[in-house]
Amino acid sequence: MKNILKGQEQADQWEETMFLYEAALKKMVLKAELMNEEFTHRYRYNPIEHIKSRLKTADSIVRKLKLDGYEVTIENMNSRLSDIAGVRIICSYTSDIYQIADMISRQEDITVLYVKDFIKHPKPNGYKSYHMVVSVPIYLSDMKKDVRVEVQIRSVAMDFWASLEHKIAYKFEGDAPEELWRDLKSCADMVDMLDNKMYSLNEAILAITEKREAERRKQEAEQA
Ligand code: GTP
Ligand code: MG
Repeated sequence: MKNILKGQEQADQWEETMFLYEAALKKMVLKAELMNEEFTHRYRYNPIEHIKSRLKTADSIVRKLKLDGYEVTIENMNSRLSDIAGVRIICSYTSDIYQIADMISRQEDITVLYVKDFIKHPKPNGYKSYHMVVSVPIYLSDMKKDVRVEVQIRSVAMDFWASLEHKIAYKFEGDAPEELWRDLKSCADMVDMLDNKMYSLNEAILAITEKREAERRKQEAEQA
């Protein structure tokens, strides 16, 4: 990117732009970590398994702009790309995904620009994930900038599927044998089944634990 940019002024602008995306990324990650800690503290339950984050590299910014038919400029990068700063939040259960999405959208300093719910509407290949593009304010010493961050929220199983699909798509550059895509699609159905099964198993465990706890309290009260 730097050698495409002309002159010192543009190079400075690039540094400042990437600094803003990095700041927005850090802010979003911190928010997600705090949400998880608050939840753990309040309900003794952590909805987030782990958080990944990445800044798009200069090479992939250039590749993406060219692929989409735009001139490689900082203006286009800011207006056309939503995923220069990307956060991936991996949850245990589908219900946690919606809870986290809701918590994010209720944060006062976050504006949800748009949502793509690939869980309710999976892609034809079987891809499932909840995407939000949000805007985060970054305060510099002399001004405020609103910076876009792409947040992907998905289950452990959905994440496992997506990394394998990504690997296959990357390796074969879109030319993978038909049976591989078929197998991948049937894996996506298994991901669904697993997510549903794990969810109901967890609900059953919670119900049993609650019932036992209530019985224990009742016995204690009777003995007193
Ligand atoms: P790009 O896919 O980045 O061009 O943006 P878009 O505007 O089409 O947005 P979309 O929400 O479809 O995808 C954004 C991101 O979601 C991608 O960069 C991937 O990280 C992820 N993603 C979307 N579709 C797939 C998919 O079929 N497989 C995998 N593995 N990841 C996907
Ligand atoms: Mg896409």
